[in-house]
Amino acid sequence: MSLLQNVLENALLHPWITSFVVAVFYASIKGYWKRRKAWVDVPTVGPTGIFSSYLGVWKYIRNGDEVLREGYEKYGKTGMFQVADLSRWTVVVTSVEMIQELVRVPDEILSFVQASNELIQGDWTMGPNIHANDYHVPILRSTFTRNLGFLYPEIIAEVEAAMNSALPDRPGEWVALQGTYGAMINCIARVANRVFVGAPLCQDPEYVALGIRYATDVVLGAQVIRLFPDFLKPLVGRMFTRVGSTTRQALKQLKPIIESRYAAMEERGEKYEDKPKDILQLLMDDAVGIERTAENLTRRILILNFAAIHTTSMSLTHALFSLAAAPEYIGPLREEIEKAVDEHGWTKTMLAKCRKLDSFVKESQRLRGAGTLTMARIALQDYTFSNGTFIPKGTVLNVISTARHADPELYGETAVDFDPFRYSVMREADGEGTKHHMVTPSIDYLPFGFGRHACPGRFFAVTAMKSMMAYIVLNYDVKFASGKRPADRAIASLCLPDSSAEVLFRKRSIASST
Ligand SMILES: *[C@@H]1O[C@H](CO)[C@@H](O)[C@H](O)[C@H]1NC(C)=O
Ligand SMILES: *[C@@H]1O[C@H](CO)[C@@H](O)[C@H](O)[C@H]1NC(C)=O
Repeated sequence: MSLLQNVLENALLHPWITSFVVAVFYASIKGYWKRRKAWVDVPTVGPTGIFSSYLGVWKYIRNGDEVLREGYEKYGKTGMFQVADLSRWTVVVTSVEMIQELVRVPDEILSFVQASNELIQGDWTMGPNIHANDYHVPILRSTFTRNLGFLYPEIIAEVEAAMNSALPDRPGEWVALQGTYGAMINCIARVANRVFVGAPLCQDPEYVALGIRYATDVVLGAQVIRLFPDFLKPLVGRMFTRVGSTTRQALKQLKPIIESRYAAMEERGEKYEDKPKDILQLLMDDAVGIERTAENLTRRILILNFAAIHTTSMSLTHALFSLAAAPEYIGPLREEIEKAVDEHGWTKTMLAKCRKLDSFVKESQRLRGAGTLTMARIALQDYTFSNGTFIPKGTVLNVISTARHADPELYGETAVDFDPFRYSVMREADGEGTKHHMVTPSIDYLPFGFGRHACPGRFFAVTAMKSMMAYIVLNYDVKFASGKRPADRAIASLCLPDSSAEVLFRKRSIASST
């Protein structure tokens, strides 16, 4: 716990900080008390006393998935239940009617943006302008998503380069990849940054490490900041978290690139030939006022790293583990992908033809998304659900994801089974249309959320995951030594792949280069 040590050492070295401690203690305990009491009139899972509820918290942190499944089993049909998280109670919305209602409630009442701001203490970690002015969201949703076809050669080039340097390279031999999950995080970070800031920066190990580390800095930083009352948060955010130093290091790398791009726009006009089409450029084109500074553009790039890397690499690793645990699916996938590559080369059209691949990754994410909860909201005003449930101002709400996906009412008798071609079979039956595509959110498939706040980066995330899976399937055989999938780590609402698990890779002698 070097962070905690850091905090304590800093506190002792600066006596004036120690003198704040009493005030802080009083103010934060008061706030904490209020958050910790189950003060919403909705059934709870686990003990509810101020002290005994910590047992529930412990259980939730150790295995959140189990607690949520228990809640869904008991209260799934009535509409809601509550669980105790480390910092507060969370209302979990479970029924179709209630989820639909939650989606319809305006942001001024149940706010998505403020819920994530609260979760990551955004004002004191990433900076207040990220939430106050989220101009990057429409860019992601429209221009960037439209550019994906154009950017695809870059995406696939980075997939190939990153995988070649990460995966075993001895044709015909089974080789165990130590820390497969870590390797996938690294590959996703490179591929994401290829379209965020371009090459060669996306291949710089130091830059890639910063992008990966930033999320940890923010999440740990938020846990520390949350313990303090508001008036001390700016100070705590600066002194006791690494967010500032990570941002400064990233700025050092990005500033020369940003400056040379501004210079090019100045010299050669706003729309010069071969102008990059990556996110950094799109941000630079749309930023106004203080958002145009290298520092604020750097922050924006870092929050995209935050949003993209860990979520996507968790899902990708789950999909890879699912394949290694059931290698009999490699054959049909390989056949489909080879045919599509023959006809269309490594293009987005090729990817669109691979329905089994889409279904495989989607099904893996149905059972094991990045999170077992989704669609967070915080009540900015009191709100009464149409069934009469009163939600006081300040309540945090989430929608159940994984536990609901295992409901036979949604997915039939095989709901808890991994049935990789479930969705491609549905597509065959229903004909064309995008209904069963992985990128299409639906009330029965919530990993990307649903409604107007559905994840704007999902088109890229799905493209990246499928491209990486396709590359692996064409170039490697994979399996687990034990033949079995390693157990997941369900910490609070996360569903993490086992980071020590090793997938065995055997490179095929007929390598398929892009
Ligand atoms: C409304 O939903 C809550 C939460 O699930 C439940 O406890 C309550 O019984 C429901 N009220 C009515 C009137 O159905
Ligand atoms: C970045 O934006 C914030 C908030 O909008 C502003 O206060 C700050 O001065 C900006 N930073 C720079 C270096 O321009």
